[in-house]
Amino acid sequence: MPPEILSRYVELLASHPWNSGTLYALGLEARAELERARAGLASLLGAQPSELVFTSGGTEANNLAVHACAGATSGGSAWVSSTAHPSLANPLRGLRDRGWRLWELPVTVSGALAVDPLGTLEKPDLVAVEWVNNELGFVQPLEALLDEVARRAPRARVIVDGVQGFAKLPTPKLDRLHAFSLGAHKIGGPPGCGALLLHGFPEPRPLMFGGGQEGGWRPGTVAVPAVAAFLAAAQRARGLAAPPWPGEVFSGAAPKPLRDPATPYSPYIWTLDTSPVEGEVLMHHLEAKDIVIGLGSACSSHKRGLSPAHRAAGLSEHQSRRTLRVSFAPGQPASEVAGALAALVVEWRALLRYFN
Ligand SMILES: Cc1ncc(COP(=O)(O)O)c(C=O)c1O
Repeated sequence: MPPEILSRYVELLASHPWNSGTLYALGLEARAELERARAGLASLLGAQPSELVFTSGGTEANNLAVHACAGATSGGSAWVSSTAHPSLANPLRGLRDRGWRLWELPVTVSGALAVDPLGTLEKPDLVAVEWVNNELGFVQPLEALLDEVARRAPRARVIVDGVQGFAKLPTPKLDRLHAFSLGAHKIGGPPGCGALLLHGFPEPRPLMFGGGQEGGWRPGTVAVPAVAAFLAAAQRARGLAAPPWPGEVFSGAAPKPLRDPATPYSPYIWTLDTSPVEGEVLMHHLEAKDIVIGLGSACSSHKRGLSPAHRAAGLSEHQSRRTLRVSFAPGQPASEVAGALAALVVEWRALLRYFN
């Protein structure tokens, strides 16, 4: 966590441990802090504060979005991006038990959604995609997808997982969406904190039951220090540029970024083709030098087999094992990024003799 966000978080833990649902003065103060965070985040999204529900993170936000948008309906047709994060794809798969039919949206070779071929799919009641892919970093063509949905199925509900793009890229227009998920820890906020923007729901449809907090959408005492630090992190991240990609470090024999020139990508997520060196071996060698780099998404790195994004982008298991995902934080100094990547290239060259 950036030091200024951490100190704001700790300061609020000390000064606002109170339950924002109570009526005593300190509870009302906590409530005011909570509503400040809600209003601040809503204004960054161009939404109404009443449309924002705080959650325990992006996973809960995605699960709640699917639950809200699928309603109590048994049967229906849903389109889901084949590269969606498991916290979005898995609750959608769960709808099959209630008679829903699921269509995985085809992607181009770089992983981005191929909107044109969607004309052949069954008309959807629900559409769910990620805005920025968490592994390959591509940015989905949301406007084109929303145009296609408006043309084919104007009554369909649309969920967009905004976790990897929020506060890092300019916010897309959200007025045609029904649910947009956010997570705090991707932008230097506290882990275990997120939010869901819900648009166009006359009644709450909670996943859990309890005291009716968050407009009836999400019961439980809200973690006020966490949501206030989430707002501080979002405001900070919005004002910062991504560190520039130090292309010069990769001249000569070096890992190659997996990027298709025709596709827009987030400047915060890069996947490198490290062949013939295995990504995991390179990762552990860099770790020994205090450079922490992921293999793919954190939630899939402990599992065997291809991740959804790698499979959809057409990587074989052999190729997938020879990739490394590099991600940056907003405001990370350019020199730090260039230094870490230069060390990566040096390490990769040293490892080549073991893999050739
Ligand atoms: C695109 C995307 N959606 C959802 C999540 C889940 O968010 P959280 O870790 O806050 O539950 C992640 C986390 O990596 C993600 O990258």
